[in-house]
Amino acid sequence: MSTIDWGNLAFGYIKTDYNIRTHYKDGKWSELEATSDETLNIHMAATCLHYGQEAFEGLKAFTGKDGKIRIFRMRENALRMQSSCRGILMQELPVEIFEEAVVKAVKMNERFVPPYGSGASLYIRPLLIGTSAQVGVKPAAEYTFLIFVTPVGPYFKEGFKPTPLVILRSYDRAAPHGTGTYKIGGNYAASLVAGNKAHEMGYSAVLYLDPKEKKYIDEGGPANFFGIKNNTYITPDSSSILPSITNMSLMQLCKDLGIGVEKRPVPEDELATFEEAGICGTAAVISPVERIDDVEENKSYVFSKDGKAGPVSTKLYEKLRAIQNGDEPDPHGWVTVLG
Ligand code: PLP
Ligand code: COI
Repeated sequence: MSTIDWGNLAFGYIKTDYNIRTHYKDGKWSELEATSDETLNIHMAATCLHYGQEAFEGLKAFTGKDGKIRIFRMRENALRMQSSCRGILMQELPVEIFEEAVVKAVKMNERFVPPYGSGASLYIRPLLIGTSAQVGVKPAAEYTFLIFVTPVGPYFKEGFKPTPLVILRSYDRAAPHGTGTYKIGGNYAASLVAGNKAHEMGYSAVLYLDPKEKKYIDEGGPANFFGIKNNTYITPDSSSILPSITNMSLMQLCKDLGIGVEKRPVPEDELATFEEAGICGTAAVISPVERIDDVEENKSYVFSKDGKAGPVSTKLYEKLRAIQNGDEPDPHGWVTVLG
């Protein structure tokens, strides 16, 4: 434990002390329990294994200058997990139980919350799965919800430095009326081949186009997309992307800072007009985009030539991090400060 090098953490799994669990059976969720067991003992015919009844979330906790731990927007994650459950017919977990489990998971693993100034954070991973046996394609009758936590550094090795993305037109992560708006494992399974290909080609992630027309920007593999021009933040409106809580927060910060906001379909051609571009998410925070190559079409859109993020992205990044760390006031009540 004393060997954790907080300043050089990657985005990966490190064992912590406890994970928190509850089980749904006979119409009710059990009392929250804490365990140090990293494994699950489930039926071989569980629906999560065969029919993808699995949803997850991602949120973070930070240590402030005052030494207090702050959890960012956990209620939004609870609500989004409920939406994912409705999307694939799983039992919804009440918001209050989700929040209680998050707080418990963080408190019981307090020694793993990275210190103020390290740049690292505690990543909180809630998971909900169908556990009872089905052989026909039907939803489970029983479910398990759990939360584990792990200290993490930046998702992309560059951190807050511009990174290259690629458009790979022969792959989609979601269908036009499919499950792209839910945070479920199937969407990530669908993105693995393209993601691997992007990495082999030297890119940090895929930027997906809308799966119907291949004309509009959808989102990055693990994060939403935004472009900046004329002091305006422009982000795709699409029925096949995840509603990102970071993106929602950045749109509010833009309003607070007098930056324009447009949420609308973004045609690929418009990339050529952006002064800055970025992808945003819990893991990615804001990752500025260096360039986007549409390899099949032989097009390239460049946003950073000097290896630096643009001024609007930088301002937004600093503001978001300051609220998360407690360096600045939290006017919208996004942060839960642990006592
Ligand atoms: N889009 C996808 C596909 C993601 O996996 C994530 C990560 O959670 C996001 C967007 C960003 O969402 P959020 O800001 O809520 O983390
Ligand atoms: C997150 O940002 O929390 C994510 O879930 C992205 C990725 C790790 C799947």
